[in-house]
Amino acid sequence: MIEAETAPKADVRPARTPRHVGVIMDGNGRWALGRGLPRIEGHRRGVEALRRTVRAAIEFGLDYLTVYSFSSENWSRPIEEVSDLMGLLKRFIREDLSELYKIGVKIKVIGTRDNLKPDILALLEEAETLTRANNRLTLVVAFNYGSRQEIAAAARLIAYKVAAGLIDAAAIDETMLAQHLDTAGIPDPDLIIRTSGEQRLSNFLMWQAAYSEFVFLPIHWPDFDRQAFAAALAEFAARDRRFGGVTLPQQNAKVKI
Ligand code: IPE
Ligand code: IPE
Ligand code: MG
Repeated sequence: MIEAETAPKADVRPARTPRHVGVIMDGNGRWALGRGLPRIEGHRRGVEALRRTVRAAIEFGLDYLTVYSFSSENWSRPIEEVSDLMGLLKRFIREDLSELYKIGVKIKVIGTRDNLKPDILALLEEAETLTRANNRLTLVVAFNYGSRQEIAAAARLIAYKVAAGLIDAAAIDETMLAQHLDTAGIPDPDLIIRTSGEQRLSNFLMWQAAYSEFVFLPIHWPDFDRQAFAAALAEFAARDRRFGGVTLPQQNAKVKI
């Protein structure tokens, strides 16, 4: 019967594209060391991988791409490496900002700004201001970012508001807390990809990742390309997200006739 042949096909879910992907760009140092190169060379090649990834994210139709570029804890690295990383960020913004603007990327920076040098701060603000009205892809740059610091800052801000009588302590709930995070207004990441083989969050989007899917790749960040990205998205599409509920049989079971 025609129905018997067509029903199972109709039941196959269309490939699901995540709206928001977070990327922990890890393994630059090991990529370089494995080739007898200085770590900075790995970071340089990492910037190229980032360029590829932004373009692929647009091609794949994502709305948000969050990249972990420097953690609150990365200050503990040797001073030369920290300064190399700061230099690369500055160069990336100076060299790529106008192109990112032209292709419709909106840049949003998350992380602590208090302890940043004025030249970096000015560049980050320039990137956000220039691209404010773009809407093709939002590139969220997690720079000087740590989830624990972000959550503590949100708690502090809410406490000030309670002390000032602006809000009632009884009204504090997860929605309010989320609205006080740097990521306020940005949907939670559907998928988090980490390269380098490490399987941890390292203080990245801990609150926001409550129901994210994770894909850990054995390759180092400088080797991440469109194909690796597509494979991670394919893995995501095959996952069954339940958000604490149950999957109804008709959603994923093969139709039996
Ligand atoms: C990621 O690569 C880049 C940053 C943390 C800024 P790493 O520098 O952490 O490289 P590995 O993990 O030491 O190989
Ligand atoms: C996480 O990588 C931070 C970034 C990718 C920017 P790390 O290399 O700093 O994390 P750990 O130290 O391996 O956990
Ligand atoms: Mg690392």
